[in-house]
Amino acid sequence: MKQKIVIANWKMNPMTPKEAKRIFIGTVKGVAHVKGVRVTICPPTIFLSELSKENKGTKVRLGVQDLYSEDAGAYTGQTAPAMALAYKAKIAILGHSERRALGESHGMVGNKVRHAIHKGFTAVLCVGERERNDEGAHFTYVREELEAVFAGLKRVELANLVIAYEPVWAIGKSAAEAMQTRDLYEMSLYIRKILIERFGRANADLVPILYGGSVKGDNAAAFVRDGGVDGLLVGSASLDPKQFSNIVTTVSNT
Ligand code: 13P
Repeated sequence: MKQKIVIANWKMNPMTPKEAKRIFIGTVKGVAHVKGVRVTICPPTIFLSELSKENKGTKVRLGVQDLYSEDAGAYTGQTAPAMALAYKAKIAILGHSERRALGESHGMVGNKVRHAIHKGFTAVLCVGERERNDEGAHFTYVREELEAVFAGLKRVELANLVIAYEPVWAIGKSAAEAMQTRDLYEMSLYIRKILIERFGRANADLVPILYGGSVKGDNAAAFVRDGGVDGLLVGSASLDPKQFSNIVTTVSNT
Protein backbone atom coordinates (compact mmCIF):
# COMPACT_ATOMS: atom_id res chain seq x y z
CA MET A 1 0.00 0.00 0.00
CA LYS A 2 1.22 3.52 -0.81
CA GLN A 3 2.15 5.75 2.08
CA LYS A 4 -0.43 8.46 2.57
CA ILE A 5 0.48 12.07 1.92
CA VAL A 6 -0.69 15.33 3.47
CA ILE A 7 0.65 18.62 2.11
CA ALA A 8 0.14 22.05 3.66
CA ASN A 9 -0.15 24.94 1.22
CA TRP A 10 0.18 28.10 3.30
CA LYS A 11 -0.38 30.26 0.20
CA MET A 12 0.53 33.92 0.92
CA ASN A 13 0.41 33.51 4.72
CA PRO A 14 1.41 34.33 7.44
CA MET A 15 2.82 37.86 7.41
CA THR A 16 5.89 37.54 9.63
CA PRO A 17 8.73 35.05 10.12
CA LYS A 18 7.84 34.92 13.80
CA GLU A 19 4.33 33.74 13.04
CA ALA A 20 5.61 31.30 10.39
CA LYS A 21 7.92 29.82 13.01
CA ARG A 22 5.08 29.49 15.50
CA ILE A 23 2.86 27.63 13.03
CA PHE A 24 5.73 25.45 11.83
CA ILE A 25 6.91 24.43 15.29
CA GLY A 26 3.32 23.78 16.41
CA THR A 27 2.76 21.57 13.39
CA VAL A 28 6.02 19.65 13.78
CA LYS A 29 5.07 18.89 17.39
CA GLY A 30 1.49 18.05 16.50
CA VAL A 31 2.41 15.44 13.89
CA ALA A 32 5.50 14.00 15.62
CA HIS A 33 3.67 10.90 16.87
CA VAL A 34 1.75 10.19 13.64
CA LYS A 35 2.74 7.13 11.63
CA GLY A 36 2.31 6.24 7.98
CA VAL A 37 1.78 9.75 6.60
CA ARG A 38 4.31 11.85 4.67
CA VAL A 39 3.80 15.43 5.80
CA THR A 40 5.09 18.37 3.77
CA ILE A 41 4.75 22.07 4.53
CA CYS A 42 4.94 24.54 1.64
CA PRO A 43 5.41 28.02 3.15
CA PRO A 44 6.08 31.20 1.17
CA THR A 45 9.66 30.81 -0.13
CA ILE A 46 10.79 33.87 1.83
CA PHE A 47 10.37 31.84 5.05
CA LEU A 48 12.29 28.75 3.88
CA SER A 49 15.57 29.88 5.39
CA GLU A 50 14.06 30.48 8.84
CA LEU A 51 11.99 27.29 8.82
CA SER A 52 14.75 25.02 7.55
CA LYS A 53 16.65 25.90 10.75
CA GLU A 54 13.70 24.59 12.78
CA ASN A 55 13.42 21.43 10.72
CA LYS A 56 16.50 19.54 11.83
CA GLY A 57 15.65 16.00 12.88
CA THR A 58 11.92 16.29 12.27
CA LYS A 59 10.01 14.14 9.82
CA VAL A 60 8.19 17.08 8.27
CA ARG A 61 9.44 17.95 4.80
CA LEU A 62 9.64 21.40 3.34
CA GLY A 63 8.31 22.29 -0.09
CA VAL A 64 7.56 25.26 -2.32
CA GLN A 65 4.37 26.62 -3.85
CA ASP A 66 5.91 27.17 -7.28
CA LEU A 67 9.24 26.74 -9.04
CA TYR A 68 10.56 28.22 -12.24
CA SER A 69 11.37 26.18 -15.34
CA GLU A 70 14.88 27.63 -15.79
CA ASP A 71 18.05 27.15 -13.75
CA ALA A 72 19.22 30.77 -13.33
CA GLY A 73 19.22 34.17 -14.95
CA ALA A 74 17.08 37.17 -15.76
CA TYR A 75 13.69 36.00 -14.43
CA THR A 76 12.55 38.65 -11.99
CA GLY A 77 10.66 37.31 -9.00
CA GLN A 78 11.07 33.63 -9.81
CA THR A 79 12.49 30.84 -7.63
CA ALA A 80 15.11 28.53 -9.16
CA PRO A 81 15.17 24.84 -8.23
CA ALA A 82 18.68 25.19 -6.75
CA MET A 83 17.45 27.92 -4.37
CA ALA A 84 14.80 25.62 -2.90
CA LEU A 85 17.21 22.68 -2.74
CA ALA A 86 19.60 24.82 -0.69
CA TYR A 87 16.97 24.60 2.07
CA LYS A 88 16.21 20.91 1.44
CA ALA A 89 12.81 21.78 0.00
CA LYS A 90 12.33 19.00 -2.56
CA ILE A 91 8.60 19.04 -3.16
CA ALA A 92 7.03 21.60 -5.49
CA ILE A 93 3.36 22.43 -5.89
CA LEU A 94 2.98 23.33 -9.58
CA GLY A 95 0.09 24.62 -11.66
CA HIS A 96 -2.06 25.63 -8.70
CA SER A 97 -5.33 27.14 -9.92
CA GLU A 98 -4.46 30.43 -8.19
CA ARG A 99 -1.34 30.67 -10.38
CA ARG A 100 -3.15 29.53 -13.50
CA ALA A 101 -5.66 32.34 -12.82
CA LEU A 102 -2.72 34.79 -13.03
CA GLY A 103 -1.89 33.55 -16.51
CA GLU A 104 0.06 30.30 -16.24
CA SER A 105 -0.71 28.25 -19.34
CA HIS A 106 -0.83 24.46 -19.74
CA GLY A 107 2.50 24.73 -21.56
CA MET A 108 4.17 26.67 -18.75
CA VAL A 109 2.91 24.19 -16.17
CA GLY A 110 4.19 21.30 -18.28
CA ASN A 111 7.65 22.89 -18.52
CA LYS A 112 7.73 23.49 -14.77
CA VAL A 113 6.74 19.92 -13.95
CA ARG A 114 9.36 18.41 -16.27
CA HIS A 115 12.08 20.75 -15.06
CA ALA A 116 11.30 20.17 -11.38
CA ILE A 117 11.40 16.39 -11.82
CA HIS A 118 14.72 16.60 -13.71
CA LYS A 119 16.14 18.62 -10.83
CA GLY A 120 15.19 15.94 -8.31
CA PHE A 121 11.91 17.33 -6.98
CA THR A 122 8.62 15.59 -6.43
CA ALA A 123 6.23 17.62 -8.56
CA VAL A 124 2.71 18.05 -7.20
CA LEU A 125 0.70 18.83 -10.30
CA CYS A 126 -2.57 20.60 -9.50
CA VAL A 127 -5.57 20.17 -11.79
CA GLY A 128 -9.26 20.91 -11.38
CA GLU A 129 -12.22 22.45 -13.15
CA ARG A 130 -13.52 25.93 -12.40
CA GLU A 131 -17.16 24.85 -12.41
CA ARG A 132 -19.38 21.85 -13.02
CA ASN A 133 -22.41 21.31 -15.21
CA ASP A 134 -24.66 18.38 -16.09
CA GLU A 135 -22.87 17.75 -19.38
CA GLY A 136 -19.73 16.60 -17.54
CA ALA A 137 -17.43 19.21 -19.10
CA HIS A 138 -15.30 18.98 -15.94
CA PHE A 139 -14.00 15.58 -17.06
CA THR A 140 -12.84 16.98 -20.40
CA TYR A 141 -11.26 19.96 -18.66
CA VAL A 142 -9.25 17.83 -16.23
CA ARG A 143 -8.22 15.47 -19.06
CA GLU A 144 -6.88 18.42 -21.05
CA GLU A 145 -4.89 19.74 -18.08
CA LEU A 146 -3.38 16.31 -17.45
CA GLU A 147 -2.61 15.46 -21.07
CA ALA A 148 -0.86 18.78 -21.63
CA VAL A 149 1.67 17.74 -18.99
CA PHE A 150 1.74 13.99 -19.70
CA ALA A 151 2.65 14.63 -23.34
CA GLY A 152 6.18 15.60 -22.30
CA LEU A 153 6.69 13.09 -19.49
CA LYS A 154 8.56 9.80 -19.64
CA ARG A 155 7.42 6.73 -17.73
CA VAL A 156 10.41 6.85 -15.36
CA GLU A 157 9.49 10.39 -14.37
CA LEU A 158 6.18 9.21 -12.93
CA ALA A 159 7.97 8.02 -9.80
CA ASN A 160 8.37 11.71 -8.89
CA LEU A 161 4.90 12.89 -9.77
CA VAL A 162 1.90 13.49 -7.51
CA ILE A 163 -1.44 14.69 -8.86
CA ALA A 164 -3.56 16.99 -6.71
CA TYR A 165 -7.16 17.27 -7.83
CA GLU A 166 -8.46 20.62 -6.60
CA PRO A 167 -11.78 21.72 -8.09
CA VAL A 168 -11.61 25.51 -8.06
CA TRP A 169 -15.25 25.89 -6.96
CA ALA A 170 -14.51 23.87 -3.82
CA ILE A 171 -11.48 25.90 -2.66
CA GLY A 172 -11.77 28.30 0.28
CA LYS A 173 -15.21 27.15 1.45
CA SER A 174 -16.60 25.62 4.63
CA ALA A 175 -16.51 21.86 5.22
CA ALA A 176 -20.22 21.71 4.40
CA GLU A 177 -19.67 23.27 0.97
CA ALA A 178 -16.72 21.03 0.07
CA MET A 179 -16.94 18.34 -2.56
CA GLN A 180 -19.12 15.26 -2.08
CA THR A 181 -17.02 12.12 -1.62
CA ARG A 182 -18.92 10.19 -4.32
CA ASP A 183 -18.03 12.90 -6.85
CA LEU A 184 -14.43 12.78 -5.72
CA TYR A 185 -14.40 9.00 -6.09
CA GLU A 186 -15.66 9.33 -9.66
CA MET A 187 -12.96 11.88 -10.53
CA SER A 188 -10.12 10.01 -8.84
CA LEU A 189 -11.03 6.88 -10.86
CA TYR A 190 -11.13 8.99 -14.01
CA ILE A 191 -7.67 10.45 -13.34
CA ARG A 192 -6.31 6.96 -12.66
CA LYS A 193 -7.85 5.77 -15.94
CA ILE A 194 -6.10 8.55 -17.89
CA LEU A 195 -2.80 7.64 -16.24
CA ILE A 196 -3.28 3.96 -17.15
CA GLU A 197 -4.21 4.77 -20.76
CA ARG A 198 -1.01 6.71 -21.25
CA PHE A 199 1.54 4.96 -19.07
CA GLY A 200 0.19 1.45 -18.34
CA ARG A 201 -1.17 0.19 -15.06
CA ALA A 202 2.10 -0.57 -13.25
CA ASN A 203 3.44 2.95 -13.86
CA ALA A 204 0.09 4.63 -13.26
CA ASP A 205 -0.21 2.99 -9.87
CA LEU A 206 2.99 4.72 -8.74
CA VAL A 207 1.34 8.13 -8.90
CA PRO A 208 -0.45 9.26 -5.72
CA ILE A 209 -3.64 11.25 -6.25
CA LEU A 210 -4.53 13.86 -3.62
CA TYR A 211 -7.64 15.92 -3.02
CA GLY A 212 -7.62 19.61 -2.12
CA GLY A 213 -10.47 22.05 -1.52
CA SER A 214 -11.86 23.01 1.89
CA VAL A 215 -10.31 20.07 3.71
CA LYS A 216 -10.93 20.45 7.45
CA GLY A 217 -10.59 18.28 10.54
CA ASP A 218 -14.17 17.06 10.20
CA ASN A 219 -14.21 16.03 6.52
CA ALA A 220 -10.64 14.75 6.01
CA ALA A 221 -11.40 11.13 6.94
CA ALA A 222 -14.29 10.84 4.47
CA PHE A 223 -12.21 12.09 1.54
CA VAL A 224 -9.49 9.53 2.15
CA ARG A 225 -11.82 6.66 3.07
CA ASP A 226 -14.46 7.13 0.36
CA GLY A 227 -12.87 9.40 -2.24
CA GLY A 228 -10.30 6.98 -3.64
CA VAL A 229 -7.39 9.34 -2.95
CA ASP A 230 -3.99 8.78 -1.34
CA GLY A 231 -3.94 11.98 0.66
CA LEU A 232 -4.82 15.65 0.92
CA LEU A 233 -3.59 19.11 -0.05
CA VAL A 234 -4.71 21.51 2.66
CA GLY A 235 -4.97 25.29 2.38
CA SER A 236 -6.38 27.49 5.14
CA ALA A 237 -6.71 24.71 7.75
CA SER A 238 -2.93 24.17 7.52
CA LEU A 239 -2.34 27.56 9.15
CA ASP A 240 -3.83 26.21 12.37
CA PRO A 241 -1.33 23.68 13.77
CA LYS A 242 -3.98 22.01 15.90
CA GLN A 243 -6.43 21.51 13.07
CA PHE A 244 -3.74 20.47 10.60
CA SER A 245 -2.28 17.93 13.05
CA ASN A 246 -5.79 16.63 13.57
CA ILE A 247 -6.17 16.17 9.79
CA VAL A 248 -2.84 14.30 9.59
CA THR A 249 -3.82 12.07 12.54
CA THR A 250 -7.19 11.35 10.95
CA VAL A 251 -5.54 10.37 7.66
CA SER A 252 -3.15 8.10 9.53
CA ASN A 253 -6.07 6.35 11.25
CA THR A 254 -8.19 5.96 8.10
P1 13P B 1 -8.43 25.52 1.09
O1 13P B 1 -8.08 24.27 1.88
O2 13P B 1 -8.22 26.79 1.83
O3 13P B 1 -9.77 25.38 0.42
O4 13P B 1 -7.35 25.58 -0.11
C1 13P B 1 -7.17 24.46 -0.92
C2 13P B 1 -5.99 24.69 -1.78
O5 13P B 1 -6.05 25.48 -2.71
C3 13P B 1 -4.74 23.99 -1.43
O6 13P B 1 -3.78 24.10 -2.44
